[in-house]
Amino acid sequence: MSKKILILPGDGIGPEIVAEAVKVLACLRDDFGLAVETEEALVGGAAYDAEGHPLPEATLAAAQAADAVLLGAVGGPKWEPLDISVRPEKGLLGLRSGLGLFANLRPAILYPQLAAASALKPEVVAGLDILIVRELTGGIYFGRPRGVETLDSGERKGINTLVYTESEIERICRVAFDLAMKRGKRVCSVDKANVLECTELWREVATRVGADYPDVELSHMYVDNAAMQLVRAPKQFDVMVTTNMFGDILSDCAAMLTGSIGMLPSASLNADGQGMYEPIHGSAPDIAGKGLANPLATILSVAMMLRYSLNEPAQAERIEQAVAAVLDQGLRTADIAGEGMETVGTAQMGDAVVAALRLLR
Ligand code: NAI
Ligand code: MG
Repeated sequence: MSKKILILPGDGIGPEIVAEAVKVLACLRDDFGLAVETEEALVGGAAYDAEGHPLPEATLAAAQAADAVLLGAVGGPKWEPLDISVRPEKGLLGLRSGLGLFANLRPAILYPQLAAASALKPEVVAGLDILIVRELTGGIYFGRPRGVETLDSGERKGINTLVYTESEIERICRVAFDLAMKRGKRVCSVDKANVLECTELWREVATRVGADYPDVELSHMYVDNAAMQLVRAPKQFDVMVTTNMFGDILSDCAAMLTGSIGMLPSASLNADGQGMYEPIHGSAPDIAGKGLANPLATILSVAMMLRYSLNEPAQAERIEQAVAAVLDQGLRTADIAGEGMETVGTAQMGDAVVAALRLLR
């Protein structure tokens, strides 16, 4: 039976980069027998403009009915004046909660062909391949009480609350350990157990889950040290697992170690393995509509989708090989081009990946 993929191009460069990823999917379907059907829907500012809401009911229903969702990016200056309840980003948050996507997987890989793009010394980052597993539906971003109150004195007080239940911690840790089993068999759990009781519990639960994985080496690190270690010696890490907020910050830090925001995919998974896949970058309004955006992060997001939601690891590997091949050929969009290198546009890059894929037949 065909797997159903919902395509959500979104805003800014979203439609341009998603179009290239769709070409890749079509190639896998036509030339490599991948059984998929795609359907497209509106999200973000594009949905607000058409229907007055960044996540129309029909889009959420289609996402829930799909095996996986491919998202471009949402947002842009045009929608910034809107009330926060209908801003494009609300579309993303609605998809995360509506699909129960509690596990956010953010790989940070340094492609050897792009080593010069990193701000760090080659010996510090060469061969970097780490995976940050961020809890996505709990923690301080969702805890209550929250808000801004005015005290009797007239002074205002802002409140957010860090909350995790044992079961929430356990399920995200299991995702991290299961992934580590297929990689380098090391998990570093990041917390602030010396100050925050909630993450003292996190450490305790991570340790308990770790006992079920005797082949995986578990270590614990305080988040401030983890930030330092990521920049000092990032290759010491294999899988890192952490809370929503710590993961938000550490994953952006890890991404920047590679220097190529246009290269990095991400996955957000629920308990059924259903997932939403998207590049880590945003809608890049500064280059939208110009055919300059790098589509590789989105194309690599399709590879993650094939691996984690569609159980097609061989098809995923094909995409990764084709991307490596175009980098080997010296093809570069502007964001990953070194000084004086010739550059290609969005569609040329996508076409080159498809051509490289066909050579793998
Ligand atoms: P951004 O990631 O869109 O852009 C940052 C810089 O990276 C820009 O100079 C941009 O041109 C460049 N860039 C990003 N992706 C690229 C690609 N594929 N190829 C070449 N260059 C690329 O982040 P920014 O500027 O902070 O946000 C722009 C808009 O995107 C905002 O409205 C923001 O809210 C939204 N956003 C959406 C996200 C999502 O949909 N998941 C994530 C982050 C931001
Ligand atoms: Mg972030």
